[in-house]
Order: sequence, then C-alpha cells, then structure tokens
Amino acid sequence: MLGLGTVGAGVASILSTPEGRHPLVADLQLRRIAVRDLERPRPLNLAPGLLTTCPEAVVDDPAVDIVVEVIGGLEPARSLILRAIAAGKAVVTANKAVIARHGDEIAAAAAEKGVYVLIEAAVGGGIPIIEPLKQSLGGNRIQRVSGIINGTTNYILSRMAAEGAAYGEVLADAQRLGYAEADPAADVEGGDAADKIAILTRLAYGGTVPRPAIPTEGIHQLDARDVDYAARLGFVVKLLAVAQRVGSEPPKPADTTAAGLQLDVRVHPTLVPRGHPLAGVNGVNNAILVEGDPVGQVMFYGPGAGAGPTASAVVADILNIAGIRQATGGGSGTQGGGLDPLLAAGNWRQCSLVDGALTTHRNYVRLRTSDQAGVIGQIGSCFGQAGVSIQSIVQYAGEGSGAAGEASSAEIVVITHEVLEARFRHALDAIEALAEVHQVAACLRTL
Ligand code: NDP
Ligand code: HSE
Repeated sequence: MLGLGTVGAGVASILSTPEGRHPLVADLQLRRIAVRDLERPRPLNLAPGLLTTCPEAVVDDPAVDIVVEVIGGLEPARSLILRAIAAGKAVVTANKAVIARHGDEIAAAAAEKGVYVLIEAAVGGGIPIIEPLKQSLGGNRIQRVSGIINGTTNYILSRMAAEGAAYGEVLADAQRLGYAEADPAADVEGGDAADKIAILTRLAYGGTVPRPAIPTEGIHQLDARDVDYAARLGFVVKLLAVAQRVGSEPPKPADTTAAGLQLDVRVHPTLVPRGHPLAGVNGVNNAILVEGDPVGQVMFYGPGAGAGPTASAVVADILNIAGIRQATGGGSGTQGGGLDPLLAAGNWRQCSLVDGALTTHRNYVRLRTSDQAGVIGQIGSCFGQAGVSIQSIVQYAGEGSGAAGEASSAEIVVITHEVLEARFRHALDAIEALAEVHQVAACLRTL
C-alpha cells in the first residue's frame, strides 16, 4: 500500500480484522506500506518493518501482487501507478485527481500489460457507483448522471443551513474528520467534484472529456444571503455535478459528429427544490442519480468520504482482483492475462463538451438596485426582450434601506424558467446597463 493516512489506515484496519468478513479478506496479506514520515504516530498496531519511506520499494517488491495507491495528488502517484503496471501488478486507487487527468494514459498502459486498475473509491466514497456504471447499467443508454459527489462541501452546506454555522469553522471540522482533501481548495472550489464527474462521464458515455475544460464553480464564493433567500423561496443550495447528453434520444447519426457525442458537463452550486430527493442529502453523504434507457432513474446514496466508507470501496476492489487471481490461479489481471472488458472499461467512442452558450438552465439571480418605482418592470422587460421567461420575482429590503441619510436600496431575486444560456446572458447584460441596477450580486443555477 502507498500511503497510510485517512484512507490507508481505514484499509489496514479492515485487512487486520478479517473476522466476519468475506473469507478472501483473510487471504490478503499487507506486505509493505509506504509513508512520508516514519515517526508519525499511527493508530494501528503494525508489524515492525512494514513501513518504509520508499514507495518504489513497495511497487518493486516481487511479493507484491496488488498495489493500493492512497497517497493522493498527481505526482508521485501517477509515476508509481505506471511503474506498478509496468511490473505487471494490478492497481487499486482512490485518487480521482490522477484518474481524471491521466486516466487514459493509465488505462492504455494497463490494457497493454493486461492488468486491472480499479477505482471504486475515487467517486462517492463508500457508495458503489463505478462498478454499477461499468457493469450493472452497461446495457443502458445513459441520458444524465447528476448528484452530490463531494462530501466536504455537502457537510459544510448542510451545517451552515441547519445551524447557521460559520463556513471556516465547519471546514475545519471537515478536515479534522478526514473528509477534506490535503488541500481543501480542491473541495470548496469544486475541483474534486469536477474530477469525479469527469470519471463518471467517461464510464457513462464511453469517452473522455478534457478535465480542465469542465465549467466549475465551488462554494467558496457563495454568499450566506443566497442560502437564506433560497430557503425563503423553498430551495436548499447544494454543490451539484452534472453530465448529460445533448441532442435527441435515441441519438441520430448526426448527433455523433467528428467531435463525438456532445455532452454538457459541469459543477456548480445549485438551488434544489426542497421536495427533490437531492435536497434531503445532508452531511457527508453523497447521492448520484443515473438516468438511463431503459432503466429509468436509479439513485445511489451513502457516505461520500471518510476512512471507513472509502476503505470499504478500496477493499471491494482488492477483493475483486484477488477473486479473479484465485479463480484463474493468478493468470488474469497479471501480465499476459485476458481482461474482462466490462471490468477494465476502456473508451469506446469520442466525446466532447458542448459550447456552454448552447446549454439550457433555470437560473436564480440576485440584483442590488435602487428602491424606486418601476425597477421591477424594467428588469422584467429586459428578460422579456431576450426571450427569458420569469418564474418568480421577489423584492427584499437591501442593506442600509431606510437608515437616516442613506438612499434606500433593494435586493431583487429572480428565478427564471429553463432558458438558453446565450439568451440569459444577453438579458443580464441589458439589466446590468440599467441605471437603477447597482450590481448583479449573484447568479446560480436552479433545478
Ligand atoms: P492523507 O493525506 O490522509 O494520507 C496520505 C498518505 O500518503 C499519508 O500516509 C502520507 O504519509 C502518505 N504520503 C504522501 N506522500 C507520500 C510520498 N511521497 N511517499 C510516501 N507516502 C506518502 O490522504 P487521504 O487518505 O485522505 O487520501 C488518500 C487518497 O484517497 C487521495 O487521493 C484522496 O483524494 C482519496 N480519497 C480520500 C477520501 C477521504 O475521505 N479522505 C475519500 C475518497 C478518496 P504520512 O502519513 O507519513 O504523512
Ligand atoms: N474530499 C473528498 C470529499 C473525499 O469530501 O468528497 C472523498 O472523495
């Protein structure tokens, strides 16, 4: 194993207590573990000599059949995974950052060597979602994959909404509980969710979309006012990741151009109606809704981060490989063995991201304006002229409103019906140019 932090310790804990688990667990031997700091206190009672600060010593050890990468980050994780593959070893990793960016390179190397690289823990923590997408739902034409796939931000948003807790304090709790990434900017700025939706996209649609091009907004700039206004209007705010097919269903040949299947993939804070199934997903829990033909809607729900849930997914992958090795006498999943195409999950078509201006959304907009007659009418006209239909428009008292000597101001919150992004942006440009509008203070998507 490479790494013995939150996830690594969770895996070691399962492997060292096989009683009552599947009998294959007892057949697994934790041979060597690479860490950064040998002096760091460890919660587990480990055999002397198990730890090393040299990850290559783990990967190169001829007695090691499966390399479990739970170091995190891009390097040395990528090089170590490729080194393990080159040595004909199966790999299990929880590292979504490396798979989202270097997944094709790693998959090609693994296919060439005839070894498995399994990644169940990389998305959704303890929720089985990778294997269901690869195998159980393989006969479907997937229309949309959407959901809450970052535990840290869901934990933060849930506690802010339920307790009015301060953002910084709740983030510190998420770090203490082992939910957050080594650099929590990856969580709160949306990058971790973007890594995960890139991985789910590849599995659901059979092709890779460029990870850096996925439009990504986090919760770090979310204003508590918008969470409050959303609640008054019957919504909760969640960080959602979405990957959906653009075009007709079933696809016509024209939908699959040289650029491949057109997909709308994105991550952003979203107003979710209080009655929607995703609105009730709180704390560190994640939920992923898969919509496919002919299955319909399938929802996956459970703990999305933390030692135990993530280790549960890592060990499932280890068992998968151990089971294949046992059934084939060590032949499959090692050099020269034939790979199960569903488990190996290679790409089978071209995919590309659609131009954002051509996507459609419902929107929430908060405007800071002068509190004077006719403002709402002018805003309504701008939307109307751009062909944007308004679902609701509400005025709230602005900051400083009514105080002696201050010009009175208002906050106007608009929720639109579903509209083409290009039309919506056109309307906002016109609204921003109105003398009575001081600022477009917030702009969020709505389910
Ligand atoms: P931690 O930071 O808790 O642990 C990282 C471990 O890797 C530590 O044991 C550290 O050593 C070791 N390490 C780091 N760099 C090196 C190096 N160069 N050589 C040897 N050892 C090294 O991370 P997590 O366990 O939280 O996360 C691990 C992976 O799992 C990441 O990819 C993360 O994204 C992913 N993941 C995490 C989840 C979670 O809930 N935490 C959930 C799902 C996926 P030392 O102990 O000496 O510092
Ligand atoms: N930091 C990640 C999260 C860990 O909070 O979801 C699980 O991938």
